[in-house]
Amino acid sequence: MTRKLAVVTGASSGIGAATAQALGARGWTVVLVARRREELTGVAQRVETAGGRAVVEALDAADPAAVAAMAGRVRSQHGAPWVIVNSAGAGAWRWPEDTPPDEMERMLDAPYRAASHVTQAFLPDLLAQHAGTIIHVGSPASLVPWPGATGYTVSRWALRGLHEALRQDLAGTGVSTCHVLFSEVATPYFDRNDGAKERRPAIGRIVPVATAPECAEVILRTIDRPKAQVLHPPMLRLLMAVHRVAPPLTRWLLRVTGARRR
Ligand SMILES: NC(=O)c1ccc[n+]([C@@H]2O[C@H](COP(=O)([O-])OP(=O)(O)OC[C@H]3O[C@@H](n4cnc5c(N)ncnc54)[C@H](OP(=O)(O)O)[C@@H]3O)[C@@H](O)[C@H]2O)c1
Repeated sequence: MTRKLAVVTGASSGIGAATAQALGARGWTVVLVARRREELTGVAQRVETAGGRAVVEALDAADPAAVAAMAGRVRSQHGAPWVIVNSAGAGAWRWPEDTPPDEMERMLDAPYRAASHVTQAFLPDLLAQHAGTIIHVGSPASLVPWPGATGYTVSRWALRGLHEALRQDLAGTGVSTCHVLFSEVATPYFDRNDGAKERRPAIGRIVPVATAPECAEVILRTIDRPKAQVLHPPMLRLLMAVHRVAPPLTRWLLRVTGARRR
């Protein structure tokens, strides 16, 4: 029987917070991971009002020691999780020459390092129970980049690399890895990561902006029926289908409708 215990990173805001709330509405216990305790406490109240249980774990998910300690607490107090949602992510959109090396490094912290550490911390539990689903919240930049967002793109490719490697490693184990990609979602991401909003390629406007609760429903559907890659909304699926058959065309479209150096 499914143990209704999920670990959600990036749970203090946006897609992670909405996913935690949606899981709560289905009666799950949700371990909420992000750095800001106060925001997590607010989300915990919403999870519990929705009918679930919440456990606040305020930490930097890019810190492997903090993640290992959190995993130990979760395991001893609640048991092994059934689902991990890696939604922690950050990173301003900048040209490479405007990105100092230390910021380029920091951009790997989330999503990539956070997802890697949290996945590794719980993988022995998932393998031992021969079941579980790992959701990685990704971006279409990991399939086809656009100009002026280099560090952001590198971290999303690393996340996709983690997912693709896990697909091979987890085959036949009963544990699923799913890469769920959204186009633009109305979340605080753009307020917290300067430069991003202005650098969206104009071609992206043909894809409707999604809401965080809508993305949460997509993630819940993926938990119910795991798939290696999920694209939302449908217009993004169409664009990525074009990319599969004519990659030079989509690269060109993103280049000519994307950001230009001043
Ligand atoms: N919004 C979009 O248009 C969109 C579209 C496609 C994909 N995505 C991707 O989806 C992911 C989530 O985006 P969002 O829109 O939900 O952004 P958001 O509202 O800014 O939320 C990001 C979350 O990540 C957490 N976080 C960042 N660094 C962390 C770290 N080192 N350790 C723990 N938590 C960390 C933040 O919490 P704290 O600051 O409290 O740590 C916050 O809860 C990102 O990777 C983003 O690129 C977003």
